[in-house]
Amino acid sequence: METPYGEIPEKLVKDMTVQEMHDYLKARYRRRSVLKGAGVLGVAAAAGPLFWRQSAASASTATAPQWIAYGADPTSEMYVSWSAGSAGGPSPAVPAPQVRWGLDRHYGSTEFAAFSGTVPVPAISGEPAEDTVYSNALLQGLQPNTKYHYSVSNDGVNWSADTTFTTAEAGASDFRFTMVGDEATFDTSSLPIAQVIAALRPRFNVVVGDLSYAGDGSGYYTNGVPTGASDFSPANWDAYLGIVGPVAAQSIPWHVGVGNHEMEPLANFGYVGFTTRFPQAYAKQKVTGSPVVQSFTYGNVAIIQLDGNDLSAEISDNNGYTEGKQTAWLANELARYRAPGSGIDFIVVGFHNCVFSSNTTHGSDGGIRTVWQGLFDHYQVDLVVNGHVHAYERTNPVIGGEVTKVVPSGGTVHPATDGTTYINAGGGGQDLYTGWYGTTGGGDPANASGPPLIWEWTGTDSATGGTGTAEDITDPVVNYSAYRHANWSFISLDVKAPRFAGDKTSMLVRGIDPAQNSSGITGTSPVVMDSVRLERRSGDG
Ligand SMILES: [Fe+2]
Ligand SMILES: [Fe+2]
Repeated sequence: METPYGEIPEKLVKDMTVQEMHDYLKARYRRRSVLKGAGVLGVAAAAGPLFWRQSAASASTATAPQWIAYGADPTSEMYVSWSAGSAGGPSPAVPAPQVRWGLDRHYGSTEFAAFSGTVPVPAISGEPAEDTVYSNALLQGLQPNTKYHYSVSNDGVNWSADTTFTTAEAGASDFRFTMVGDEATFDTSSLPIAQVIAALRPRFNVVVGDLSYAGDGSGYYTNGVPTGASDFSPANWDAYLGIVGPVAAQSIPWHVGVGNHEMEPLANFGYVGFTTRFPQAYAKQKVTGSPVVQSFTYGNVAIIQLDGNDLSAEISDNNGYTEGKQTAWLANELARYRAPGSGIDFIVVGFHNCVFSSNTTHGSDGGIRTVWQGLFDHYQVDLVVNGHVHAYERTNPVIGGEVTKVVPSGGTVHPATDGTTYINAGGGGQDLYTGWYGTTGGGDPANASGPPLIWEWTGTDSATGGTGTAEDITDPVVNYSAYRHANWSFISLDVKAPRFAGDKTSMLVRGIDPAQNSSGITGTSPVVMDSVRLERRSGDG
């Protein structure tokens, strides 16, 4: 029996089970793993090499875009995901989705897709069919801080162009990463922001929700049950991945979290479309109550990505859906990272809805603030990064709802004593929000009357969400805005690792401002519009 990879002698085939055939090929060609699962969401595409004959003729040769993300261990694991392209009719066949990878263009190792399938999209009048097949594979056993080449295929015959990624360094090291939210799908802003991010060569990028804007942002649920959609554009996902994949996400681990626009009229609280496209090492839903939260570490930094839809007082569709599990998991994660000997100095928490925003659109979300801010205070979270408001804003450090000191651009914060800095980094490409309330230490002046507002429940907040009716009220926290600017932007974070136990360690956070006008980004030379240095003693916990 001939396959694209070799041949199983006919005398063996008649006595072999499918599993035995697979094991034979696996042993012969030293493939690293077998198909761990097949498409459970509609099209079951990952059939494996044994079925190549029956499906090769109709197989999709499209293998782009591609995007990657760290596995549970960023030093040794990488997820590779790719799209088989959109089709107006039946889903394209992907008979043997796989990744070949190695230290050079000769590769040498092959990993079959762990998952391949389409996203089930309800029939919606006026919307195109969304038959794109998404595949992903987890590469394991990689060496730290090593550049790997890879290429993907749907059939083992047609391969994508060679691409590279680099694994995380082991132990504490100096490194850069980036964070951004609200990217959208515009050639004039979303694409250049992704290009500028890539030009800074971060080790990874964290997205704090609102990626493709496939969902209309208001959610589609009534008491946890999908209720249909009037404005759902799943084709936006292909546009989004087509923008960020080729210029950035195929080589820079793209660690995405959800925003309100990721709540789609789909199963599992609207997140099946998201989790099908982004496999990633999301924490177990049984523990967190959510399929889309995760934490990982790089050097002496822990990154925690949460789902603010669970607690939002402004947009309540998924309010309380984790039944308090996410908050309990967050508390455990924070305690774990702050425990002596954890090796972690900086804790960065990312999620969508703003804890603090003096913008006139959306503003601050008191549902989240009331439930999580006490945890951020208690565990000395260094930095919280949000999106949702399409602009940039940094707060002075805050503890217990009070500003501890004024920190102008270029200043330094000692989070262990000064408290948490909150940054809104929602300028990733979507249309900007230019209205501001109140005062600020730098950047855009107020252009609307009145103080900053906050969404609050008329009832009480709890770990399972708020009760009563949400309303916008005057924010009781004053003078928190340190710098704000309604422009397309993102943040770059440069970590300087401690050289010995007890040494100083720092994280320089910079708001990056590409040249732009009201129509889009015009220049390729970004400048730093705002910065703050976070400093700690290593091991202070
Ligand atoms: Fe947004
Ligand atoms: Fe949003």
